[in-house]
Amino acid sequence: VSESYQKTYKKFDEIIPTLPKDKGWWNENLAQYQGFWLPSLAVLGALLINDHFKPRPTDIILSTSPKCGTTWLRALIFAIINRNSYDFEHHPLVTTNPQDLVPFFEGYIRRNGSCSLLDSLPSPRFLSTHLPYSLFPKSMASTCRFVYICRDPKDVFVSKWHFMKKLRPKELAPISFDEAFELFSRGVSHYGPIWDHALGYWKASRESPDQNVLFLKYEDVKKETSVYVRKLAEFLGVPFSAEEEKEGIVERIVRLCSFENLSNLEVNKTAKEPRIKTRPVSNPDYFRKGQVGDWMNHLTLEMSRLLDQISKDRFQGSGLSF
Ligand code: A3P
Repeated sequence: VSESYQKTYKKFDEIIPTLPKDKGWWNENLAQYQGFWLPSLAVLGALLINDHFKPRPTDIILSTSPKCGTTWLRALIFAIINRNSYDFEHHPLVTTNPQDLVPFFEGYIRRNGSCSLLDSLPSPRFLSTHLPYSLFPKSMASTCRFVYICRDPKDVFVSKWHFMKKLRPKELAPISFDEAFELFSRGVSHYGPIWDHALGYWKASRESPDQNVLFLKYEDVKKETSVYVRKLAEFLGVPFSAEEEKEGIVERIVRLCSFENLSNLEVNKTAKEPRIKTRPVSNPDYFRKGQVGDWMNHLTLEMSRLLDQISKDRFQGSGLSF
């Protein structure tokens, strides 16, 4: 890679040892970088994006805190923007997990050690990220379109807890429910604190003069999926025509991407070789219950009150609530 890339890699090597560290949920420590708890490779991703990524006005960035609905929104957006390329019977989503259809921005940018793969993607590029809004360069804020989805932190914690149990290597001592809860409420979880993550995008969605951040909540999308599919299409500049409405395309997309449909497809039911050796995550792990309010089956009253209180305090005056 060129000298300018080497500079970024050197910067990364210098920064990492200086960052505060805390316990990660699966196999590595998290580093606190500009207020957020990140795996070290996400820090590298953020540096590479800032130093080298060339945004295009057609770029679509799906941003989420982990466990807030990434898989679902990847599927929905993919289906919306590619709706003229495939019929529903032979749709890529029927045979491919959404993970494999949408590049993970901060991971993809590291492949080849440079932006070359990203540069070679045709427009419109659709990328998925967990990075907080504040870590993206200003040039992207005014150029790309961001779709953000967040979710009640109580459900996110429960979802994360189950996910972590599957991923944490057996050689490591397990993290108890209480310990995970303590970490989560202190904000120590991948890309946490979840509250600051959501607030960054929330403020951008309200303040951005270009209206280029669409802020969604898992609970709302779950309740009225077709309403949000239309909103998404409009936001992405590809609204449904009267003819498409008549043909029921919106409902077909909703059905294709529903939890019931995706989780029952052979490709998503079968555990294959893990994509990344150190993180043995396979397709079925992305589907658990897909419901709102499962926290009621797991959190004590005290725990739920504590998370609600943190949300209330952190979101106070912002207009955001759960
Ligand atoms: P639960 O663990 O509460 O069931 P992410 O995709 O960001 O990792 O989030 C995973 C969560 O989204 C899991 O929540 C998972 O079951 C749920 N999910 C996955 N696909 C979904 C879909 N098509 N519709 C609704 N929820 C979905």
